[in-house]
Amino acid sequence: MVAIQPLAKIWLDGQLVDWDRAQVHVLTHALHYGYAVFEGIRCHATSRGPAIFRLDEHLERFLNSAKVYRMKLPYSLEQLRQACVDLVRANGLPAAYLRPLAFSGYGEMGLDPTKAPVQVAVAMWSWGAYLGEAGQEHGVRALVSSWTRVDSRMLPPQAKCAANYANSALAKMEAVAAGYDEAILLNSAGMVAEGPGENIFRVKKDVVSTPPASSGILRGITRDTVIEFLADEHLVFRRNDFTREELFTSDEVFYTGTAAGITPIREVDGRPIGTGDYPITRRLQRRYAAATEGRLPGREGWLTYAT
Ligand SMILES: Cc1ncc(COP(=O)(O)O)c(C=O)c1O
Repeated sequence: MVAIQPLAKIWLDGQLVDWDRAQVHVLTHALHYGYAVFEGIRCHATSRGPAIFRLDEHLERFLNSAKVYRMKLPYSLEQLRQACVDLVRANGLPAAYLRPLAFSGYGEMGLDPTKAPVQVAVAMWSWGAYLGEAGQEHGVRALVSSWTRVDSRMLPPQAKCAANYANSALAKMEAVAAGYDEAILLNSAGMVAEGPGENIFRVKKDVVSTPPASSGILRGITRDTVIEFLADEHLVFRRNDFTREELFTSDEVFYTGTAAGITPIREVDGRPIGTGDYPITRRLQRRYAAATEGRLPGREGWLTYAT
């Protein structure tokens, strides 16, 4: 978690406004019914200045989340891309986390959100590794949650809707209250799905696997990045379901996410994972750092410079 330090500007409904003026009314529809879609994007410090990682893929997912929820955004991908770049320039941080958000605004109440006006914002703040620098270095301890991940018959997990994160928060709180760092959610078939805000991978005998999209996960952009790296590194990769006990007997397990980066999991439900070395996770972490910092040949196209 992070205590937010105010910056100069937030982009709200088409313009950059002063940080303190980016406010809403308590009768904002989304506050009551969770009808908001959002993104989490990182801007990284590079030798050529701040660079936003896979911005278009994030904005495509943002527009798709809105589409699933019949939310009509009055901005195109190009306009949103420009908004993100303008915001990074206006706030002058070398690295930051960006949060595009579209929500049902003030004016109508009741359960048909299509009557409420849609508002769109992009905010940013300074945010280090979500599961901590120590977690990235030494691994985190994870608890398999008693809460089941929402599935596409309930709340579509592939749309990044605020309402899904009530499910994530229940799992996260349960893990933290039990003395763990993070949760792992199973899907309604009892197979491993993902973390509250991260995808999950396991390594067993040099085969790397992650649950398929059909297991009820958010299709993570870091997940996709890692899948590309596995091909680059000629590692064997499979998209397949696995059980909780297959996590216990893995050689390596790690989370991926924009906020968390690539974070090793050193323990699941009190069982230590592997030998405590994470050779494949480490290789992927190094490649990810190189890609996000503009040092990975052939992957320059993933960066949008905001200089
Ligand atoms: C539920 C969930 N799963 C996975 C992820 C990882 O996705 P990404 O790598 O695109 O950040 C996130 C983060 O957005 C998430 O909220």
